[in-house]
Amino acid sequence: MALKILTEHINVPGIKTLEVYRQYGGYRSVEKAVKTMSPDDVVEEVKKSGLRGRGGAGFPTGMKWSFIDKKSGNPRYLVCNADESEPGTFKDRYLMSNNPHALVEGMITSSYALGANLSYIYVRGELLYVIRILQKAIDEAYAAGYLGKNILGSGYDLDLHVHPGGGAYICGEETALIESLEGKRGNPRNKPPFPAVKGLYQNPTVVNNVETIAAVPWIVNNTGDEYAKIGIGRSTGTKLISACGHLQKQGIYEIELGVPVEEFIYSDEYCGGIRKGHELKAVVAGGSSVPILPAHLILKTANGENRLMTYESLADGGFATGTMLGSGGFIAMDETTCIVRNTWNFARFYSHESCGQCSPCREGTGWMEKVLYRIEHGQGREHDIDLLVDVAKKIEGNTICPLGDAAAWPVAAAIRHFRHEFEWHIRQPQEATQPGAVYREQVLV
Ligand SMILES: Cc1cc2nc3c(=O)[nH]c(=O)nc-3n(C[C@H](O)[C@H](O)[C@H](O)COP(=O)(O)O)c2cc1C
Repeated sequence: MALKILTEHINVPGIKTLEVYRQYGGYRSVEKAVKTMSPDDVVEEVKKSGLRGRGGAGFPTGMKWSFIDKKSGNPRYLVCNADESEPGTFKDRYLMSNNPHALVEGMITSSYALGANLSYIYVRGELLYVIRILQKAIDEAYAAGYLGKNILGSGYDLDLHVHPGGGAYICGEETALIESLEGKRGNPRNKPPFPAVKGLYQNPTVVNNVETIAAVPWIVNNTGDEYAKIGIGRSTGTKLISACGHLQKQGIYEIELGVPVEEFIYSDEYCGGIRKGHELKAVVAGGSSVPILPAHLILKTANGENRLMTYESLADGGFATGTMLGSGGFIAMDETTCIVRNTWNFARFYSHESCGQCSPCREGTGWMEKVLYRIEHGQGREHDIDLLVDVAKKIEGNTICPLGDAAAWPVAAAIRHFRHEFEWHIRQPQEATQPGAVYREQVLV
């Protein structure tokens, strides 16, 4: 049985209450940190752990924390990114709604490390039930002396607020989130300066994902060195994967980084294989933004090695033959899936969610959506595939925030690996490619 760090006690009845959470070792990291460690000691343990941000980019957390300006004397903030709006990713809400104190404890220990006296959890607005559960946990933590003034008699003060977002995907981008938290429209900021220098209210701020912060108590309790022993290479620790699509057992799995993708899909410990009578066609491994891979490339790298669930192995081969771990939204598709339709669906999402600040993203996402619509609806033109590739290229790298890249990559990758399906849609008579028509090998031969 694989080691569980984030979900070990998640099914214990009553774990949402502080009383039961404490019976299972809850809040030990707060006691240990504020009574026996300096803030820099905590940062050092997180650095040693090799923990990388679980929000998508995989940036080393300890390094990010060490960038925060502690000398200026200005207030510092920790903001938890609980916006979770990426299609395919649904792990943070699971953690927060089933084990809210794990995040509250992580917020306190992490805020102490950063010297923050005021911290926020920015939750996607639609997740009202999560907001209520978190607020209850925070109220209990205040009543027990884990939050507020002079926490556990240590002299350290911390206030923690839950802030509901408005339900915009762009507000998951950290600087858009900060703008939104300040009460403004959630438009991403130009960087530099990065939030560690000028973030919330122009003060030093760390933004971290829910899962990242929830891993900190274990690291403080067990040391960074112990955490670094889990996983492979620079992919240390465990990761929550939300698995959906044509799998026998969709759900949220906590894996030790390094599990082979094949084992993750087919073993009974995880997804139990593809639904009966069907076979794997493609996988989007890390949420809708990451490049789609056909079955043979998700299971093995281009060199024929087993592909592993790590940042490095999934990226092996670059975008030519690889993809990304991203935020762990694992979408499996069997042979009944129309890649054109799927790509159009993703493009629709990005076109709708573009904030409109940068022309390449505002215009380009809309164009891609329209061209994909006509291909999917049997009205594709001969040059449409090249047009899509061209538009995707012009968006990528040309926007203030990575939403543009996130919109371009799925389109470019779908064409790279499934160009024949796009061609088939364009060449077939219109009635053969009405929505729902799926390319199959036998149709072509
Ligand atoms: C359009 C867009 C949406 C994002 N949505 C989220 C999100 O919902 N949750 C999240 O943690 N990170 C999201 N990110 C990444 C954040 O900008 C940031 O990198 C992350 O919160 C940092 O936390 P981490 O270092 O713990 O991963 C998003 C990025 C972009 C460009």
